[in-house]
Parts: sequence; C-alpha cells; structure tokens
Amino acid sequence: MGWLEGNVAVITGGGSGLGRALVERFIEEGAKVGVLERSAEKVKKLAADFGENVVTVEGDVSKYEDNASVVRETVRQFGRLDTFVGNAAIWDFSTKLVDIPEDRLDPLFDEMFHINVKGYLNGAKAAVKELALTGGSIVFTVSNAGFYPGGGGPLYTASKHAVVGLVKELAFEFAPKIRVNGVAPGAMATDLRGPGSIGLGETNVSSLPLADLIKQCTVLQELCEPADYTGHYVLLASKDNSRTATGAIINCDGGMGVRGLAETAGGNDL
Ligand SMILES: NC(=O)c1ccc[n+]([C@@H]2O[C@H](COP(=O)([O-])OP(=O)(O)OC[C@H]3O[C@@H](n4cnc5c(N)ncnc54)[C@H](O)[C@@H]3O)[C@@H](O)[C@H]2O)c1
Repeated sequence: MGWLEGNVAVITGGGSGLGRALVERFIEEGAKVGVLERSAEKVKKLAADFGENVVTVEGDVSKYEDNASVVRETVRQFGRLDTFVGNAAIWDFSTKLVDIPEDRLDPLFDEMFHINVKGYLNGAKAAVKELALTGGSIVFTVSNAGFYPGGGGPLYTASKHAVVGLVKELAFEFAPKIRVNGVAPGAMATDLRGPGSIGLGETNVSSLPLADLIKQCTVLQELCEPADYTGHYVLLASKDNSRTATGAIINCDGGMGVRGLAETAGGNDL
C-alpha cells in the first residue's frame, strides 16, 4: 500500500524533469494526478504514458485561469484534491545584474516573477477551497537558490527566496485546515529553460557541466536524478506521516549548507 493511496494531486510543470518524476512517483504511491504544463508535446506524452491516472491541461502557470482549469478538471475527473504541488519554473542561467541590458531588466523581471512566484500564488489560490475540503496540503518546489547565493543570478535567487516567504505566509494564512511546505532540491540535469526575454528560452540547464559543479559545492558530491527528490514530496503530502509539518522546507541539495570553509568536505577514510 502506497503513502498516497486514494489521494489526488495537481502538479505544475509535470511534463519533464522533477515534475514528471513526481507524477510517476505519486501514481506509484496510489495517487491520481492532474498536471498543468505549457509544452503541448510533453502534455501529449504524459497522457500516453500515464493514461487514466492523469488528467492534463496545457496552459501557463502565470495565468490564473489555467490554474483554475487544472483544479476544475482534476476534481471533475477524480472527485477531490488533496495536494497541490507548485513546481513549474524557469532559471536565469546565473545572469548577473551588470550583464542584463537596461532595456531587458523590466521584461526579464516580469517573466521570471510571473512564472516562478505568481505561478505558485495562482495555483494556491485556485486550489485553496478544494484543499480545505479534504484537509489537504501544498508543496512548493524551492531550490538551493532559496537559501544561498550563486545558484542563479539575482532574479532567480530573489524569486526562490520569495517562494520561501510564500511557504511561511501561506502556512500561516491557511492553518489549521491546510498545511503548506516546501522542498529545496539541488541541481538536476533536466530541461529547465531560461527566460525568452533574454534569448534563453530554448537553452536548458543540462548544457552545463553540472556534475563537476556539484562535486565542488556539495558535501555529498553527487549529481542526483529528479526521482531522487520525490520521496520528500511524498512525505510532506502524506497526511499520515506529516500531520505536524507546516511552514517547513526540506533542504535536500546534497549539503550546501554544511559545506563549511574547508577546501574539500569529508576526506576522512570512512
Ligand atoms: N534543474 C535544476 O538544477 C534545479 C535545481 C533546483 C531547483 N529546481 C527547480 O525544480 C523545478 C522543476 O524544474 P526542472 O529542473 O524539473 O525543469 P524542467 O524544465 O524539466 O521542468 C519544468 C516544467 O515546467 C514547465 N513550465 C515552465 N514554465 C511553465 C509555465 N509558465 N507554465 C506551465 N508550465 C511551465 C516546463 O515546460 C517543464 O516541463 C523548478 O521549480 C526549478 O526551479 C531545479
């Protein structure tokens, strides 16, 4: 018996990377899943791969109506909503403030914050009434960039710090009926795209030497797969196993916060 038997979840950005791994894991744990995803191609593949266990909506998290639509379709198909996972985001490819052309700052800010921050607000607002009916919960994907500099440029880092604020504020606002938590993963080789407003809409994070970077900046030193992070979401979504957790964020970035000042961590003959 899975940890999410009989549960129904909505996951945004479920078409690839972490979101798709979450769709797969939630179904394995016994849940039915609604997905909001902007790529038509990925939506088609989800429907083909997961059949009657998923309901898909092609749309944009930055539009409230698309969030309302995935909640509506999910409840129509599966009868309830227990978990909303806000996950869709874009990355800024660590673009420094000094390198952003003056006329691009405005559209870049809007694109990044409309997807990474307003997208989660839209989802929470669209889901809140259904979640209250089931005593459900929200889980937001944060990032190491929600805690430390250098995992993005100022716009991505600020957007993920804003998500930390949303977890805390909504945990306060939605208590006691709805729990709100976060998961802060580290790097993964996914299709994570850049902002179209600075010409990076077709570039993805997998084009970088992530394994080398992770070796340098985490104590566990291993570049993990999206599936390696899914257990944290299952735990937080599980009513039986996380009844006491709200406003919590699981840092699972391979130990960036315990790297210390030594040139290399560990090194003992263990
Ligand atoms: N990949 C990493 O190194 C990394 C590290 C830390 C945190 N994260 C976070 O993990 C989450 C998932 O990212 P991923 O790495 O799996 O990337 P991904 O691009 O593979 O998955 C994100 C999905 O969201 C979709 N999407 C993007 N913008 C959308 C929009 N406006 N509306 C609807 N769907 C949209 C994409 O099409 C994609 O399918 C993000 O919140 C990201 O910030 C990623």
